[in-house]
Amino acid sequence: MLELIKQRRSIRRYTAEPVEESAVGALLEAAMAAPSANNRRPWEFVVVTEAPLRQALAGIHRWSYMCAQAPVVLAVLADPDADPDHWVEDAAAATQNLLLAATAQGLGSVWVAVHPRPEREAAVRRILQVPDRLRVLCLVAVGHPAETRPARRNPYEVAKVHGERYGRPWVQS
Ligand SMILES: Cc1cc2nc3c(=O)[nH]c(=O)nc-3n(C[C@H](O)[C@H](O)[C@H](O)COP(=O)(O)O)c2cc1C
Repeated sequence: MLELIKQRRSIRRYTAEPVEESAVGALLEAAMAAPSANNRRPWEFVVVTEAPLRQALAGIHRWSYMCAQAPVVLAVLADPDADPDHWVEDAAAATQNLLLAATAQGLGSVWVAVHPRPEREAAVRRILQVPDRLRVLCLVAVGHPAETRPARRNPYEVAKVHGERYGRPWVQS
């Protein structure tokens, strides 16, 4: 698991090979295994494979172009009525699980930001006919990777870890 976490990188180019439905199901199962405040589980998802829809999603901002090439795009939604305080954190935890589960299956994926830009959310809402009661956290583009990116071998940043009190180094013995 620790190796897998470091292997996960944002992959933005994909082959034309379709993603098996069972693989998509496994991603969604992982997403819904995420922790959730008070176990409210506010998340919902839209699985998008139709090319015109993905093309439209690719146009919502400068860094969403991957949605056109990725054979599958998952929209991560949440119901703020289920948890007004924590829907963002819950949906983000589900998204991270999606990315890790994609890596585990040899798939490439990338988080495409939607929240908190109202114009991006409005665009996704219109394209995917998302009801007003739901919020849109992000999109996740998924496909078989057509690029390789190295695992993060040394992500640890000493200066970002404090011991006992802020500003004192935490030293591993
Ligand atoms: C909240 C969030 C929003 C992001 N939005 C985008 C995005 O809109 N487009 C994109 O190409 N990558 C996006 N990313 C991916 C980051 O650019 C990427 O995680 C970062 O550059 C580190 O690279 P890595 O994922 O390969 O470790 C986003 C990541 C996060 C956590």
